[in-house]
Amino acid sequence: MRCTFIIHRYDPAADTEPRYQEYSVDAEPTDKILDCLNKIRWEQDPTLTYRYSCAHGICGSDALMINGRIELACQKLVRDFKTGYNFVIEPLPLFNVIKDLIVDLNPFFNKHRYVRPYLITDEDMPTTEWLQTRENQEFVEPALRCILCASCTSACPINRANGNYLGPAALLRSFRYIFDSRDTATGSRLAQMDSEDGVWGCRSMWWCTDVCPKEIPVTKCLAQIKRLIKQEAKK
Ligand code: FES
Repeated sequence: MRCTFIIHRYDPAADTEPRYQEYSVDAEPTDKILDCLNKIRWEQDPTLTYRYSCAHGICGSDALMINGRIELACQKLVRDFKTGYNFVIEPLPLFNVIKDLIVDLNPFFNKHRYVRPYLITDEDMPTTEWLQTRENQEFVEPALRCILCASCTSACPINRANGNYLGPAALLRSFRYIFDSRDTATGSRLAQMDSEDGVWGCRSMWWCTDVCPKEIPVTKCLAQIKRLIKQEAKK
């Protein structure tokens, strides 16, 4: 079938402002949107610029706006859309556009680094595999599915209003370590979360949960951090 793609274009070296360019592509209903972008780039316009790597929903590098909704281009098929095979492809909102569909994710990864996304422990390193309890593993498991695609942070309206807000992805990564039984930095991690730029900035609007391509219950995880902060305050 013939599909029409209207794609956001912007080259800071040549354009004074963004524009949209239309392409026509032969695609099967089972083709991924990423397949269609590749066809355009490989067969029609090698200047079209976008990110991808794994093409299988693992690396998180091809989150885009597809017909007004944030999606992974490698996870959505042509047949998933009821738009008469017309597609509007735009970069993630919130972030500055570097070129065409590529945005600057440095602010996103800076916030991710800020929450110390690694195990911190006072204990000696074990000589054998260091297991969590099954219950603990199951509790943090949803957060382990995060692929850092930035969809949640991009969708979050609080992030758009407050540039200092850590955002759902960084808060979710903090959740993953706060509730890890092997991590001993819980107190300082909770202190880091206990502000309007931290977990209290979250107004439980669920947009992050709605767009997460890994179906992580992000809003619920952040609520667990809020609950623990309140519990600790009562002690
Ligand atoms: S290309 Fe890796 S998640 Fe889509």
